[in-house]
This record gives sequence, structure tokens and C-alpha cells, in this order.
Amino acid sequence: MTETTPTTPQPTTTQTGTPVGSDAHSLTAGANGATALHDRYLVEKLAQFNRERIPERIVHAKGGGAFGTFEVTEDVSRYTRAAVFQPGTTTETLQRFSSVAGEQGSPDTWRDVRGFSVKFYTTEGNYDIVGNNTPVFFIRDGIKFPDFIHSQKRLPGSGLRDADMQWDFWTLSPESAHQVTYLMGDRGLPRSWREMPGFGSHTYQWINAEGERFWVKYHFTSNQGNIEMSGSEAELIAGADADYYRRDLFEAIEAGDFPSWDVHVQVMPYEDGKTYRFNPFDVTKVWPHADYPLIKVGTHTLDRNPENFFAQIEQAAFSPANLVPGIDASPDKMLMARIFSYPDAQRYRVGANYNQIPVNAPIAPVNNYSQDGSARHGFNAPSTPVYAPNSLGGPVADAAAAGEGGWESDGDLVRSAATLRSEDSDFGQAGTLYREVYDDAAKARFLETITGAISGVTRPEVRERAIWYWTQVDAELGASLGRNLESGAESANEAAEYVGVAD
Ligand code: HEM
Repeated sequence: MTETTPTTPQPTTTQTGTPVGSDAHSLTAGANGATALHDRYLVEKLAQFNRERIPERIVHAKGGGAFGTFEVTEDVSRYTRAAVFQPGTTTETLQRFSSVAGEQGSPDTWRDVRGFSVKFYTTEGNYDIVGNNTPVFFIRDGIKFPDFIHSQKRLPGSGLRDADMQWDFWTLSPESAHQVTYLMGDRGLPRSWREMPGFGSHTYQWINAEGERFWVKYHFTSNQGNIEMSGSEAELIAGADADYYRRDLFEAIEAGDFPSWDVHVQVMPYEDGKTYRFNPFDVTKVWPHADYPLIKVGTHTLDRNPENFFAQIEQAAFSPANLVPGIDASPDKMLMARIFSYPDAQRYRVGANYNQIPVNAPIAPVNNYSQDGSARHGFNAPSTPVYAPNSLGGPVADAAAAGEGGWESDGDLVRSAATLRSEDSDFGQAGTLYREVYDDAAKARFLETITGAISGVTRPEVRERAIWYWTQVDAELGASLGRNLESGAESANEAAEYVGVAD
């Protein structure tokens, strides 16, 4: 609810609306005496204060965001029936940007992957794209996610971040190489959230009105350009203004300089998914644009700052489980794990009825048989039956309206990596990114960054494995790294860069 400041002050009240006597003096036995426990306003004020914080997000804790509009400018209706992507449709949105590993209050400009989450308040329910500023991810099976995050956060004893565990995990998980090549490259330090791209990263499924299925990947291209900052600039800013990105976004929107992104998709015909030369559902891979070119869908513009950061950004709950008719999941093991994980995290972090909070509530009507729970405030009319099936005219599920997708699947229940295809490899695309996308200057910065980061590793076997890892990405790169580490070329500052102790 938006509240305006009245011109004549209203009397201060308790939470139950009773006027209170003072915001300056507790109730005491005489001016110098003991405080009375029955000062119910004092007790309420202190108790409420103690409950102001909710747990921070387990990852992506530091962030910021704004509201906006998504406008479909092209016609992609042959690929999806989703209302949000029909020609000419305009949809209200909420976007949150974030860093992955740092806690609330951590400096925005620490080297990290950046979160890029968009909630579309569509007429068919909320649709969320919860992606990053990189098109790939570190791992390809959700069962590794807690271990990955533990390795990037803090040691249990000292509470310090630790290069040994970061590089131990990465080098023992070679599927991370592509994403680490992005992270240690210029993409790891965007100049602002406005000046970076966004990706859905996973492969999703689109279903058209005829029931035909397609595999898609989302790309958000920044109309402000992709601009990065240097490691030394980022370190200086980390010390001077921990909220640098949050401030930049807020001030740009306040000044009427609305950032926007063109939204594109790559579309793969359903059958190609079975025979493509590498697994197209592996989130550590990109699809070459030569095979699947970008198709424009529309433009997303941010034009409204939050009025209350806590209510509208901190309590916002984005989830890959928020899908709408015409859009569904794919056989990506990471995506399937995320579909469980986010609503579970949000029930714990925000509360069982988090979807009733205004920022999360859909504009589409909600009809179902769930009820009650902590802080429930919406409810059905008393005549609505509380069970299904019923013969009392309660809501009825409609498979046709849901428009769910699916895919063929069979085989024994196993714990196994996906079957390898001819061009599946952990290091191939990482090598291409390093050799063909980075120019000589970017390559030099990359070598300097990894040399600095790995020089913080103390265990010799992890250093050795790191040299092996980068040699698999590119033989010359691995050799240069080896020489640098041997000669002690790194400086203490560079070593500190990724572990976030740059001050
Ligand atoms: C199986 C792997 C993953 C798991 C289990 C996981 C889990 C989580 C959890 C529990 C949260 C906090 C949610 C909340 O409290 O609201 C979160 C946030 C987030 N995750 Fe993941 N995650 C995974 C992979 C990914 C991937 C692959 C991406 C990007 C492509 C990603 C992007 C994000 C973003 C952007 C946020 C912040 C959302 C916001 O702005 O509120 N995550 N993740």
C-alpha cells in the first residue's frame, strides 16, 4: 500500500491504532526510577524492531531493483501461445539485480556473476525469468549447488572467504571452466547493472497454440551497451561506495534516464534437441548464433523506483517455477532442481503466504484449495468449498488452459551424467570464449586476474590443478599462468581481488 505524508501530522499510535503518549520517554517510576514493564508502547516498539530483518537470500543477498514495462514489438506467436509474448502486448514488470556470493551490505563491485531477475505480471499469472549476466553456469546438476556455494562463501572457522576452497571446487568440477572464464574476464566487473546484458541461461520450452514445442534461450541486450570497469577501479569503488550499482540504478531512474534491454530468443526446433551435436540442455553451454540466430521479441524498460526497498525488493520472490501457459521447463537437471528450490527458500525466507504480499501477488485471479498459514490475509468467500473434487461449483482444473509442455523420457532411474554427444566437452566453449571472443588486451587482463586469484591459493596440489584446468582451456594460457605463479609475478592486491578483501 502506498501512503502519502499528510500535511498536519496524525497522532502516533500503537499497531492496533491507539494513540500513544510519547516517542521520547519510557514510562518510569518517577523521573529517575525503574522502567515499567507495562509500558506497552515501549515493549511493542522494541519487539517490532527486533523483528525487522528477515533472513537474507542464501545466495544473491545483495541487490537492488526497479519496476518497468515489457513491450512485445515483434511477432513470435508461431513459437509460443504465452499471452505475455503476443504481438503488441504490454506487461508490467519488476526487475532485481544482484551479486551472487556477497552478503547484504557487501560491496557491489566485488568480482562476481550478477543476477538478472525479471517478474512479468501477466494476465495468465506471474512469469519469472531468473537469470544472470552470463549465458552459462558453473555446474550442470543441482545436487552440487550447496557445495558450490559453500566453496565460494566463507570458511566455517575464521568466517573468511578462501581462494583454496574456491579453486579446489572449480578445478575438481571442470564443467565450471566456461563460467569461470566469463567471471575472471571483463564480464566479472560490469560498470553498472544498466550496462550489462542478461540471460535466462537455461533452455526453456515454448509451446504454440497448435501444441508444437520449441526449445528457447533468452537474451536481454542492454541498450546502454556492455561496459565494464577495471579491477583497480572496482577495488577503489568497493571501498568508497559499497552501494555503487544500487545507487546508479536508483539515480538514473529518478533522473528519468530509463534503462532498457531488447529481449531476444534463440529458438531450436523440438526435434533438433534430440540430435544436436552437444547436449542443448546443459547450462554450461551456449548455442552458437550461427546455428540458432537471435530473434527479437520486444523491449524491457525500467522506469519506476521502489517506494519501499524492504516491501518491494527484499520481499520480492522470483522463481523459475513461475511459468505460464505456453512456457515450460526443459530436461535441464539444474532447472528442475531450481524449480523445487526457490519456492522452498521463499516459504522459509518470507513466509508461507509470500505470494500474497503485494509485490509478489499476480494480477491474474488466484483460485485453489490451499488455505491458512502464517500471515494469510486473502481468503475465499465462505461459500467456496475447501476440497476438490466437489459438487458445489468450486474451481476446476483445466489441462487445456494450463497448456503445459512435456518431453519424451524413459530409462531406468539412475544417478549419472547425461549421455555424452560428439561435441560435449567441459573445456571446448571456454577455450573458444578465451581465444575468439577476448582480444589481446582482454586476454592480458584475464591472465592477470587469474594469476592474482590463484596466487591466493596456498595448497600446492590445488595450484597444480589450477594450472592443469587453464591448460585444458588453452595450452598457452596454462603455460603463461604456470610461469607467472612460479615467478611470483602476482601482487598482494591482485591475490586479494576475487576473495573480496581488496581494502
Ligand atoms: C540448482 C541450482 C540452483 C539453486 C538450487 C539455486 C538456488 C537459489 C536460491 C535458494 C535463491 C534465493 C531465492 C530467494 O530466497 O528468494 C537463489 C537466488 C537467485 N538465483 Fe539461484 N540457484 C541455482 C542456480 C541458479 C542459476 C543457474 C541462475 C542463473 C542462471 C541463478 C540465478 C539466481 C538469481 C538471479 C537469484 C536472485 C533472485 C532475486 O533477485 O531475488 N541461480 N538461487
